Amino acid sequence: MKMARSRGDKEEALEKHAGLLKMVQILSFLVVFIAGIIIGLATSSHINKYFNSQADLFFTTKLGSEPSSGYNCNVVKSCEKVDCLSMKTFMRPVNLTHQMSDEEIFWRASLVPYKNGYPFDRLPKVAFLFLTRGLLPMLPLWEMFFRGHDKYFSIYVHAPPGYLLNVSSDSPFYRREITSQSVKWGTMSLFDAERRLLANALLDFSNERFVLLSESCIPVYNFPTVYNYLIHSKHSFADSYDDPTRYGRGRYSRKMSPDIKLYQWRKGSQWFEIQRAFAVYIVSDTKYYTIFKKHCKPACYPDEHYIPTFLNMFHGPLNANRTVTWVNWSMGGPHPATYRGVNISESLIQSIRNNQTQCSYNSDMTSLCYLFARKFDPSALEPLLNLTSTVMEF
Ligand SMILES: *[C@@H]1O[C@H](CO)[C@@H](O)[C@H](O)[C@H]1NC(C)=O
Ligand SMILES: *[C@@H]1O[C@H](CO)[C@@H](O)[C@H](O)[C@H]1NC(C)=O
Ligand SMILES: *[C@@H]1O[C@H](CO)[C@@H](O)[C@H](O)[C@H]1NC(C)=O
Ligand SMILES: *[C@@H]1O[C@H](CO)[C@@H](O)[C@H](O)[C@H]1NC(C)=O
Ligand SMILES: *[C@@H]1O[C@H](CO)[C@@H](O)[C@H](O)[C@H]1NC(C)=O
Ligand SMILES: *[C@@H]1O[C@H](CO)[C@@H](O)[C@H](O)[C@H]1NC(C)=O
Ligand SMILES: *[C@@H]1O[C@H](CO)[C@@H](O)[C@H](O)[C@H]1NC(C)=O
Repeated sequence: MKMARSRGDKEEALEKHAGLLKMVQILSFLVVFIAGIIIGLATSSHINKYFNSQADLFFTTKLGSEPSSGYNCNVVKSCEKVDCLSMKTFMRPVNLTHQMSDEEIFWRASLVPYKNGYPFDRLPKVAFLFLTRGLLPMLPLWEMFFRGHDKYFSIYVHAPPGYLLNVSSDSPFYRREITSQSVKWGTMSLFDAERRLLANALLDFSNERFVLLSESCIPVYNFPTVYNYLIHSKHSFADSYDDPTRYGRGRYSRKMSPDIKLYQWRKGSQWFEIQRAFAVYIVSDTKYYTIFKKHCKPACYPDEHYIPTFLNMFHGPLNANRTVTWVNWSMGGPHPATYRGVNISESLIQSIRNNQTQCSYNSDMTSLCYLFARKFDPSALEPLLNLTSTVMEF
């Protein structure tokens, strides 16, 4: 009985064993099959990921090497893709529009590298700072002047807040408006606008010379002549002289003493051309700026006295004390002569280019004293465009 049972058990057990074996075979086949699928899936997704990251890399470097393609470091989100701390964005800010206050941008602009030399090929540039009440009527003339010299200049425009110049995207003036504030002529706000232009231009470490121009200014020489004259000058061209009349010393206030003494007081044309170090000094000063803000009110005009006096007090030896912007004051009175279309001739431009006077340049004397001229009415544009190739040579 026991045996039978045991045999039967055995048979039963054997049958069970065979069944189990089949199941294990099927199961292991399934396991291998599923594992195969999983490995396959994992590999293909890895490949996808790999290609995606390669595409990302390509995309990112492409953007990084083409700052003009419209990315915007001001929107934090895009900084995940674009390296906002790259040397390129640091050296040459792409978007001139920013949210910085004057206090913030003046501080940033005052930073000076302590280390000698540059970790990049620095091609010194001339920064052209246009202070305008809106339109730039001489724009076509300036566009001709700048054409073909892109590497050697930067343009900054201080126009009324929100004003956009109507220029095509291939113009050197395209998107060169800086964050501005409204200006009341004859007040400190005019000088504030000049400081704002200097500060924005200082953020580009390649800018070496800074020239202030108005909407009624024109160039009287071609770009290479202007560039070489400014870049190779040891001095800045900021007008600074002692005017003993009531239009000069008469505007000095005793309340400025003892910080500013009468013998240090100077006057000069607002249209300066200065080297980088001077631009840094000007945006960095708070002490004398505050004194002028408090005590230089009409008939004292900060734009005619601050820079001439400040440079005379501290940096005189590096200043030529003359301006490179020609103007006709022969009429007398508060406003210089304005040239209209009818007044434009080849001989007028020739007489500005060489007006029979000699001036010092580095340690020599030269008859090339003026690079720019004012004031020109919009009607002068057409006849001036006619003279560019013959007289001005551009
Ligand atoms: C420049 O920045 C301003 C504000 O910071 C933003 O509104 C504007 O879209 C930016 N322009 C470009 C071209 O990125
Ligand atoms: C901008 O300039 C274009 C072409 O010079 C002209 O057609 C257009 O009317 C101007 N737009 C404004 C708002 O002045
Ligand atoms: C300009 O004036 C300063 C005094 O403020 C003087 O030291 C300097 O030599 C003058 N520059 C030239 C080129 O004469
Ligand atoms: C300067 O202006 C006066 C008055 O408008 C004019 O007679 C004179 O010819 C002008 N000088 C030059 C060099 O254009
Ligand atoms: C421009 O021409 C007009 C008319 O001939 C003349 O009265 C005026 O003085 C001239 N202006 C200058 C600055 O030469
Ligand atoms: C040359 O220009 C300067 C500045 O405008 C002026 O003072 C001087 O009289 C001019 N000389 C001649 C000969 O026109
Ligand atoms: C431009 O020059 C041409 C000849 O060179 C002349 O016919 C034309 O009147 C000039 N235009 C102006 C606005 O002076």
